[in-house]
Amino acid sequence: MSTDKEKSRIDQLRNLLQHYNHQYYNLSISEVSDFEYDLLLKELIDLENKNPDYFNPSSPSQRVGSDSNQEFEKEPHSFPMLSLDNTYSKEELFDFESRNKKLLPEDYQYICELKYDGASISLKYENGILTRALTRGDGTIGDNVTANVKTIKSIPLKLKGTDYPDEFEIRGEIFIPHDGFNEMNKIRKAAGEPEFANPRNTAAGSLKTLNTSIVASRPLDCFLYYMIGKNLPSNSHYDNMQLARDWGFKVPSIIQKCKDINEVIKFIEHWDTERKNLPYDIDGIVIKIDSLKQQKNLGMTAKSPRWATSFKFKADQVKTKLLSIDYQVGRTGAITPVANLEPVLLAGTTVKRASLHNSDQINLLDIRLNDYVFVEKGGEIIPKIVDIDKDLRTTKSKAVDYIKLCPECGTELIRLEGEAKHYCPNDTGCPPQIKGRIEHFISRKAMNIGAAEATVEALVDNGLIHDSADLYFLTKEDVLGLDRFAEKSANNLIESIEKSKEVPFHRVLFALGIRYVGETVAKTIALELKTIENIRKASTEQLTEIHEIGERIASGIIDYFKNDINIKIIDKLKISGVQLDIKEDSYQLYENKLNGQTFVISGTFEKYSRDELKELIVKYGGKNTGSISAKTNYLLAGENIGPSKLEKVKKLNIPVINEGDFINMIEE
Ligand code: IVH
Repeated sequence: MSTDKEKSRIDQLRNLLQHYNHQYYNLSISEVSDFEYDLLLKELIDLENKNPDYFNPSSPSQRVGSDSNQEFEKEPHSFPMLSLDNTYSKEELFDFESRNKKLLPEDYQYICELKYDGASISLKYENGILTRALTRGDGTIGDNVTANVKTIKSIPLKLKGTDYPDEFEIRGEIFIPHDGFNEMNKIRKAAGEPEFANPRNTAAGSLKTLNTSIVASRPLDCFLYYMIGKNLPSNSHYDNMQLARDWGFKVPSIIQKCKDINEVIKFIEHWDTERKNLPYDIDGIVIKIDSLKQQKNLGMTAKSPRWATSFKFKADQVKTKLLSIDYQVGRTGAITPVANLEPVLLAGTTVKRASLHNSDQINLLDIRLNDYVFVEKGGEIIPKIVDIDKDLRTTKSKAVDYIKLCPECGTELIRLEGEAKHYCPNDTGCPPQIKGRIEHFISRKAMNIGAAEATVEALVDNGLIHDSADLYFLTKEDVLGLDRFAEKSANNLIESIEKSKEVPFHRVLFALGIRYVGETVAKTIALELKTIENIRKASTEQLTEIHEIGERIASGIIDYFKNDINIKIIDKLKISGVQLDIKEDSYQLYENKLNGQTFVISGTFEKYSRDELKELIVKYGGKNTGSISAKTNYLLAGENIGPSKLEKVKKLNIPVINEGDFINMIEE
């Protein structure tokens, strides 16, 4: 490439990456796969290195973060990072109380804390020195973000005093206070940079930013609320947190001992009104049993501890006018009505659109055009309409005439029995469905081909591919003919397609996008039927004989193979060398979810026989032993379990789980 051409490519890449960053960090929209983003960024960095005279401090190479999980080392947590049960109802807090009363013979006390709304972090200290900071990740494995965390001034790199354990972890929430957030946005606005949408996403995004100096410039802060380790100084969570403050941690001063749920409720009510005056965001209250010994006795389910719960405050609501409704056609042909609203400010962001879910939802709330609707933002990014203000209804209010034809291809919509959504049945001819199926096919958990949504769109629109199998017949020259593709990126795409031929059969089966065949179902069927031909020939009876496969899934599979277009896709995949039968040792298909943990099974069970449970433990990487010892991690208890076993686990503080808890552990 000539220098001039390189420079114009640099400009192009800078603009493109800036656009993707804005979409991702501010609007929470991913227009490209992480893979493609990284390739573009790498191309930019290479070209900038070759052209140092073209340096620009505001180039995306100088400031971008990336949520690309490939950039940070993944490490297992020493102790799983569980989430908390949550409730919006005070009645459920009384259920929490009754369970504690039943399971704990002695007195206990609660500790109430604020539930900070940021990004959780686990900090490891060895001999008083911060040695590791991991994000939550999936709770078992997190991203090592130590270098970034070290830039947060309120996190001590070296502890004060000497009375801390040699090794322990402390967990907390990284957040951005309102002042810092507003100030940061003011500066960005003045510099012509896009403003951040809200403190929580900005805190989480900052943690995953590659350039540490950028992280250092963000007003991040960290509250610590949970200590974990083998030799903690006190049996009281409260006391440990007070000690942690002496060691230099920022432990919130808002923390209260409560003797019963009535006192807890007083704390909740106080902070539900007072939270508006706090200088940072909270989204609820966390209630914990104080004694670590009692915490251990209560144990945990696969996802959350039984010794803690959280009460979530109701999300903020605003009222605005419903202007019109658009209908989006998804990958599977499912229709989602989306409301266009009169723009309104809600929890720091301007809301213009909201999901209406389906026609039932519209009927249930009796939503009409030009009505004033209440919009709420929960945990999810897209806000939803939760109610309407009938008092403000005028003669302009107009009933919604739900569409009957697909807005993309004109096919008559159908509604399957028992399903809330309407579908466009033209799955092989409706453009967004074709593109969507290809996007699903190439996604990371399926064939893992590195191509962006825009690339798929261009390939389809230029008539280069009509279905996912056509990808395997693309040439480099085809790709070079598309906008934005140069020699290197075209090579990368072709190589990535080639590499996908090694993807094992169960993922190929998932990639096909057969209705109701998700990742787990695909694994089960691949294991059982072994080849695509066997699956194609299988009858409903044969399919439903497979454990966990019901009529609905079976009919999804049968319908898929009834369609000639799909048969042609399979034929093309066969020719191209994609894996269409099972190769590996079947047990490798199961993830190592139980991670070597030892289980003792006792009693009788509802869903599985004891032998089936034993097999599942082994398949998912656990161990099964006959008798309880200090090495046992869980007692998997069914009905009619002997009292001596229960006594023994209690003595050894071994958590007791039931069949449901176990299924959650492997199915998570
Ligand atoms: S305790 C095993 N305390 O809420 C429980 N968590 O939904 C350990 N959070 O992942 C967590 N404020 O990120 C705890 N005062 C607080 C908290 C808190 C916010 C977050 C945390 C956790 C999530 C659970």
